[in-house]
Amino acid sequence: MSTERRPSGQQTTASAVSDSAFLRACRREDVPHTPVWFMRQAGRSLPEYLKVREGVPMLESCTRPEMIKEITLQPVRRHGVDAAVLFSDIVVPLKAIGIDLDIKPGVGPVIADPVRTRADLDRLRPLTPDDVPYVTEAIGMLTDDLGATPLIGFTGAPFTLASYLIEGGPSRTYERTKAMMYGDPELWADLVERLSVITGEFLAVQVEAGASAVQVFDSWAGALAPDDYRRYVMPASAKVFERVAAYGVPRIHFGVGTGELLGLMGEAGADVVGVDWRVPLDEAARRVGPGKALQGNLDPTVLFAPRAAVEAKAQAVLDAAAGLEGHVFNLGHGVMPSTDPDALTRLVEFVHERSAR
Ligand code: CP3
Repeated sequence: MSTERRPSGQQTTASAVSDSAFLRACRREDVPHTPVWFMRQAGRSLPEYLKVREGVPMLESCTRPEMIKEITLQPVRRHGVDAAVLFSDIVVPLKAIGIDLDIKPGVGPVIADPVRTRADLDRLRPLTPDDVPYVTEAIGMLTDDLGATPLIGFTGAPFTLASYLIEGGPSRTYERTKAMMYGDPELWADLVERLSVITGEFLAVQVEAGASAVQVFDSWAGALAPDDYRRYVMPASAKVFERVAAYGVPRIHFGVGTGELLGLMGEAGADVVGVDWRVPLDEAARRVGPGKALQGNLDPTVLFAPRAAVEAKAQAVLDAAAGLEGHVFNLGHGVMPSTDPDALTRLVEFVHERSAR
């Protein structure tokens, strides 16, 4: 997969990346087959991941360029997916500016001192490329090794990150988050504005280093009614998309349970809207409107069913996507850790075969 380091070789690779099925689908161009990648395709579903990570805490592994590179490449090698996604986490930029936090196995991000007052906002200073040198270094190595396979950079969206910062960890109800949003809208607006600067810069660093698409994870935005999303969240998310608009790389916007928000999530500035499994892709396309590609949307738990059932469900996703302007096949949320890796490899083969033009 490596490319010669001659200028002409690099040029060839750059155009091969640009001509990849994944980037073509994001741009709503015709494709040789429907491209497929999986959110959380690296990680605990892969034994080779567990081996590399042995004894290294999650957040530390995200700061080691060689490890980032290796883990990012693992699912590309094993499954033959059409895109790589950088091994990192949505809380990495917060850690990088000095927020005291950890990722607890089986729990998720946990914040030592939650952000709840105006004074707490001082801890959210802007991020600079020097805060995340390991990201730049890892992507530099990866773009060489990936050859024609595009690399997706990502960030958490302001709302989803704010929810972790305010609640202090994962939440089912977002009660403190919503209490701030409704009770002190000015403080809330300042908080998400600061997060939009940090996350926009984190995306820019990744694109500058060589990422050829970006995804904004607003995983928990589905907790919001459309009016609240529009008023309290969308302006900050729009700033993140604006920050990387001039690079011309496709921008994907994803959340869970966002059926009622799909139109607004497209409007926020996305080129590709990610859809979970609750809304069929043809209906999602009506909600999003023309001019955008869609990504999704096989229920990740379907992968625990027998092969024939997985294939029937995957075919249903392809059928619902048949009339779309552009479709990137993905799961409706991340790969679950106990997923059989072979089921994922078979799914990639199935999507490629069934969608071959
Ligand atoms: O393959 C990939 O998708 C690349 C890397 C990636 C990770 N996290 C690595 C990771 C990506 C894209 C993320 C995004 C992320 N992180 C999101 C948005 C996606 C989503 O699922 O909605 C969120 C909400 C987080 C926060 C987070 N980090 C959670 C909820 C967890 C799981 C905690 C647990 O143990 O159940 C993490 C940890 C994490 N991030 C792991 C990985 C591989 C597992 C760490 C481990 O191996 O112990």
